[in-house]
Amino acid sequence: MIYLDNAATSYPKPDRVMEEMTRCMREYCANPGRGGHAMSIESGKAVIEAREVISSFFNFSNPLQLCFTKNATEALNIAIKGCLKPGDHVITTCMEHNSVARPLKTLERDMGMQVSIIEGNEFGEIDPQDIKKSIRQNTRLIICTLSSNVNGIVMPVKEIGKIARENGILFLVDAAQGAGTVKIDVDEINADMMAFPGHKGLLGPQGTGGLYVREGLKINPLLQGGTGSNSENLYQPEFMPDVLESGTLNTPGIVGLSHGIRFIENFGLENMELYKYMLVKRLHEGVEEIRGVKVYSKNDMKKNTGIVALNFIGTDSTQISYTLDKVYHIATRAGFHCAPLAHRTLGTVETGVVRFSVGCFNTLEDIDRTLDALREISRKL
Ligand code: ALA
Repeated sequence: MIYLDNAATSYPKPDRVMEEMTRCMREYCANPGRGGHAMSIESGKAVIEAREVISSFFNFSNPLQLCFTKNATEALNIAIKGCLKPGDHVITTCMEHNSVARPLKTLERDMGMQVSIIEGNEFGEIDPQDIKKSIRQNTRLIICTLSSNVNGIVMPVKEIGKIARENGILFLVDAAQGAGTVKIDVDEINADMMAFPGHKGLLGPQGTGGLYVREGLKINPLLQGGTGSNSENLYQPEFMPDVLESGTLNTPGIVGLSHGIRFIENFGLENMELYKYMLVKRLHEGVEEIRGVKVYSKNDMKKNTGIVALNFIGTDSTQISYTLDKVYHIATRAGFHCAPLAHRTLGTVETGVVRFSVGCFNTLEDIDRTLDALREISRKL
């Protein structure tokens, strides 16, 4: 199988990720932070080490400002619902995933929140000045994806973060796509909160992710429960990360995630970006020469985190993806990618797109074989 669905979940994982997860489960996986015995302490140490690895990777000021979640969706819901109150205004973009759009639309319908969606060009690129023009007296939060999960376009988060900071508005970044491919420094982009998954570009297992919350910012928790701290108190502790981290953590997953990030650091993040772009460029240039293909991604390293989204004009995307899978053993994702806003922007609400998303374990041979398959499909259409 040629796996080109890394925007959904990266595959394969580095050997070390699997080895360290197995070692954790075999040797010391007790409950972290919940007991004084040696195994609980070793589990707790593994979690603390992971907090440090992740925090240094994204430049969090303090590893305790990271709350672990089961994915980016959970992190986004905690952030959105934890900082808004009825009557607040939120600004977001035309390229957001449903993990942002659905909580916002639900709050708009049920809680009287106001939501502005900033439109972009045919690739989904937005002008940060349009965000500035949409600010109202009651604007509390701006949310922007770092990069679209549909076509990989990179959004101007640095400029948006500056506008948010200058206007005293909270800025939440959805780093579901791009984390592990492009350098992210939460201070440089002025992020007050940042949600990320562990199982995509960071090369960790499914069931992992996190939310960074800027020091001093108070977020109301979605859940209350056991934290292993202040156990005599019937109310939730107010300090990070315990305020947002109720219940037993996914220790083996968190260990795996930290080793995914260590793998990227050893490889070099810039090398990772260059390598993925080399693959994307070859695929992009190849598909542009195939008759009947329309491409929705940009062929520009600084504007694409590793996706080629395309259609054979007049053919449903799911049919192409099905043929790629069944006949050529190439894994892609077709349809709407849980991102109807992005498809509205790209003009693909009827057909969806076939999304090819590369990972660091893909090879040039994978790309060439994919291009051969697409040429053959084109000839047969
Ligand atoms: N959000 C993931 C994707 O884009 C699952 O495929």
